[in-house]
Amino acid sequence: MMQNVRIAFIGAGIMGRHHIAVARRVPGIEIVGIAELNPQTRDRYAAEGIPTFADHHEMLAEVAAEGAVISTPNAYHASAAIDCLAAGVVPLIEKPVADTVAAGLGLREAQRASGLPALVGHHRRHNPIIKAAVEHVRAGGLGQVLAVNGLWLRRKPDEYFQEAWKTDPTAGGGTLLINAIHDIDSLRAICGEIVAVSAMTSNASRGAPVEDTAAILMRFASGAVGTFLISDNVVAPWCWEMTSQEDPRFAWQPENSYVIAGTEASLAVPTLETWSNSPNGGRDATFIRRKLYHVAAESMELQMQHFLRVIRREEEPLADVESALATLAVVEAIKLSAAQGREVAIADLLG
Ligand SMILES: NC(=O)c1ccc[n+]([C@@H]2O[C@H](COP(=O)([O-])OP(=O)(O)OC[C@H]3O[C@@H](n4cnc5c(N)ncnc54)[C@H](O)[C@@H]3O)[C@@H](O)[C@H]2O)c1
Repeated sequence: MMQNVRIAFIGAGIMGRHHIAVARRVPGIEIVGIAELNPQTRDRYAAEGIPTFADHHEMLAEVAAEGAVISTPNAYHASAAIDCLAAGVVPLIEKPVADTVAAGLGLREAQRASGLPALVGHHRRHNPIIKAAVEHVRAGGLGQVLAVNGLWLRRKPDEYFQEAWKTDPTAGGGTLLINAIHDIDSLRAICGEIVAVSAMTSNASRGAPVEDTAAILMRFASGAVGTFLISDNVVAPWCWEMTSQEDPRFAWQPENSYVIAGTEASLAVPTLETWSNSPNGGRDATFIRRKLYHVAAESMELQMQHFLRVIRREEEPLADVESALATLAVVEAIKLSAAQGREVAIADLLG
């Protein structure tokens, strides 16, 4: 029988606790330690018999973990991941892979030097809905994709912002790094590389030193262009979490968050409805509305199962540091564009 994989956790806030709950449901895992700054959280897990630590260095030295899930605030991702790699531990790094491209490049260097794999928590890539959209678009199901539109519009409750890092620009706060990064990664997966962006941001509603709202223009390597609109302070259902049924903690709304339009057909995500008509169809051409079907599955569980296979070297990471760095560079370019009022090429940031 295969031995359980020894997994540790660094950071047990909202997301870390979610990962721990997922790890308890996925067979083949032994939770060997939790490093968390909050003493009440440590006490709770210690009462359940899990070794807890205030300092992840101490944990990595003591528990002989094979993998570690990093769910700290964004600004600690790269350094914690480098510590894991130095200890011979394969990291699953929550998104964004780092808070800045510079920090991400340092992590990429450390990861290459270590010879170990590293997985990044772009869990939507494991979702069968995204996989179906990726396969359909890549197989030419829409013809040539020309126009892309994405929305992430939702109101986060005030309590969410009690953690100071979420509105601190020096700690990786703001809705672009916390939320848009997911959608940018999904749009890259479906439509290919983004080569340039232009953006405006606003903090008019909360007045925090980070953006709560942004309007973004994107140019894809394929020649397609796109728009993306995001706000974490508006009452609206058009975001992945509320439309995809991915996470039962969100009330489901049968709406879409992306529209991808090509020369032969268009696709709405996550409903996976496609629209087509006769070749060269004019204003009276009959539309054919179809749906791509998929087998629903819990993407956080799929990601954790994949993480075990990455640790056992049975699979290459589906979202690796290189790819996550490209996604991060798009987000950094969006911020730069908004600050400087100009179009920013992604290649200029990645060097
Ligand atoms: N994949 C997703 O859908 C998703 C969703 C939410 C958050 N996230 C990501 O998860 C991470 C955590 O977000 P959150 O909402 O849980 O934040 P949070 O503030 O609720 O939790 C962060 C936790 O890390 C702890 N911490 C801070 N520094 C630490 C250190 N050096 N060692 C150990 N613990 C430390 C804090 O005490 C806190 O409990 C962020 O990177 C965020 O972007 C991902």
